[in-house]
Amino acid sequence: MTLPVLSSSALLLGLLPLLLGPGAPLAAARRQALWPQPASVQQSPRVLYLSPDSFEIAHGPHSFEDSNCFLLEEAFRRYHEYVFDYFVSSDGHPKSFVGKELQQLLVTITSDSECDAYPNSNSDESYKLVVKEPVATLEAKKVWGALRGLETFSQLVYKDVYGAYIVNQSEVTDSPRFGFRGVLIDTSRHFLPLKTILNTLDAMAFNKFNVLHWHIVDDHSFPYQSWTYPDLSREGAYSPALIYTYTDVKVVIEYARLRGIRVIPEFDTPGHTESWGKGQKDLLTPCYKRSEKTDSFGPVNPILSSTYTFMSNFFKEISRVFPEDYIHLGGDEVDFDCWESNPDVTQFMQQQGFGQDYRKLESYYIQRLIDIVSSTNKGYMVWQEVFDNGVKLKNDTIVEVWIESFYREELQKVTAAGYATVLAAPWYLDYITYGQDWKKYYSVEPLNFVGTEKQKNLVLGGTAALWGEYVDDTNLSPRLWPRASAVAERLWSPQNVRNLDDAYDRLTEHRCRMVRRGIKAQPLFTGYCEM
Ligand SMILES: *[C@@H]1O[C@H](CO)[C@@H](O)[C@H](O)[C@H]1NC(C)=O
Ligand SMILES: *[C@@H]1O[C@H](CO)[C@@H](O)[C@H](O)[C@H]1NC(C)=O
Repeated sequence: MTLPVLSSSALLLGLLPLLLGPGAPLAAARRQALWPQPASVQQSPRVLYLSPDSFEIAHGPHSFEDSNCFLLEEAFRRYHEYVFDYFVSSDGHPKSFVGKELQQLLVTITSDSECDAYPNSNSDESYKLVVKEPVATLEAKKVWGALRGLETFSQLVYKDVYGAYIVNQSEVTDSPRFGFRGVLIDTSRHFLPLKTILNTLDAMAFNKFNVLHWHIVDDHSFPYQSWTYPDLSREGAYSPALIYTYTDVKVVIEYARLRGIRVIPEFDTPGHTESWGKGQKDLLTPCYKRSEKTDSFGPVNPILSSTYTFMSNFFKEISRVFPEDYIHLGGDEVDFDCWESNPDVTQFMQQQGFGQDYRKLESYYIQRLIDIVSSTNKGYMVWQEVFDNGVKLKNDTIVEVWIESFYREELQKVTAAGYATVLAAPWYLDYITYGQDWKKYYSVEPLNFVGTEKQKNLVLGGTAALWGEYVDDTNLSPRLWPRASAVAERLWSPQNVRNLDDAYDRLTEHRCRMVRRGIKAQPLFTGYCEM
């Protein structure tokens, strides 16, 4: 055709779209891609059109606690934006289409909605989604299921070659395989700006993760601003600007809540605590060399009563700042050299009858810490060494398995002892290799260990851990996404969803969707994203 015969005003009047077809510009269609794959999906070839101007997401007619739920109002607004690509600059979308229209998505919560609650280990995330003309319905018992269903609905919508938004008639019935689906971030090795943490929470919601494991402090820096002990961050943070204030922490917790994500803080002791010592005199053990005191310090000093007074005050604060039922107490990789060098510690060991077994000293410390934290009515998570060293744990303790070699044997032991467990060992995303390592994370089967049905039921889920030695604000997102997405599907979808080719196709498109929504997710392989 010869375009020059048309005046530019004719173009403005919209003749060009008529010449090219019902929409412009002509582009390759986007594909539908569900991630993680829901438990059950049925779809028909019948497609419905969605108009960005008139389509709405709203409360269903019999919704419990209607219109008064800020969490849902926010989610409706957000998902309208995601469905219609508010974050993508474009040449405009076609205003008209030929075909059946989907006018609304009505969301109904069928029992007490938990609108103002925090998600917890028992939160119900199940939902049922029916997309049919002219109104789609999403039903869930609780708001948490509604959030997951909204994400799925947004993933069902794609675009035809004319750029019109379409969705196949569909029925989705869904609930997660595992209730604990975590991402670990580390804000001690490098400080992560607040907006990076919020962006990570967005991406977690796109992947139906529901726990942020916030490894907030460690040897390298102490960015948590404590109101009881303000010197901890004043002296222990990298700089006075690189801290999380009370308000920052509250912002993270609320942003996460609105996305159905728990925030479990980790305050790792007695090892990994060098930064604590800068703002809290006498907390750490002084190390000796040839019977001379040196300038260096080891783990928390377990022999002083002042240590336990400090921990008691500190964890009382933590239990009030974080609404979450669980606090992670760490307990990994305690280096015994410094304790061994210290004559006061040696004397204490003799008094207690510990012999030369420093694991007994560690257990003594953890035992007292656990009693302190239990008295705040919180449950606790610990790294596997605490269990391995035979510390007496409350029966609701969650043991996190992280050591990669023999992790199946460890799962077997921990669950045989009756403890619930979370698996992180095969999902240390800080280790990087050339190529598509997401396949390795994807292929893990968490229940592939020897044990009874009862033992398998004690596996609550897993955590994708992105330790921060080589990660800061510049590379967190591309390193985490879409590699963590592989873990997300493994923890959400049924056990038999494991075809790598099918996963590759869906994940490629899911990754593009994350990019469109403002997540700097790295590519899986060659190709490009339809914007
Ligand atoms: C969706 O509809 C299109 C157009 O009819 C069809 O080609 C496609 O197979 C359908 N998708 C599914 C998953 O049924
Ligand atoms: C833990 O022990 C308490 C008290 O003995 C008991 O009531 C509870 O059911 C136990 N919980 C688990 C998870 O075993």
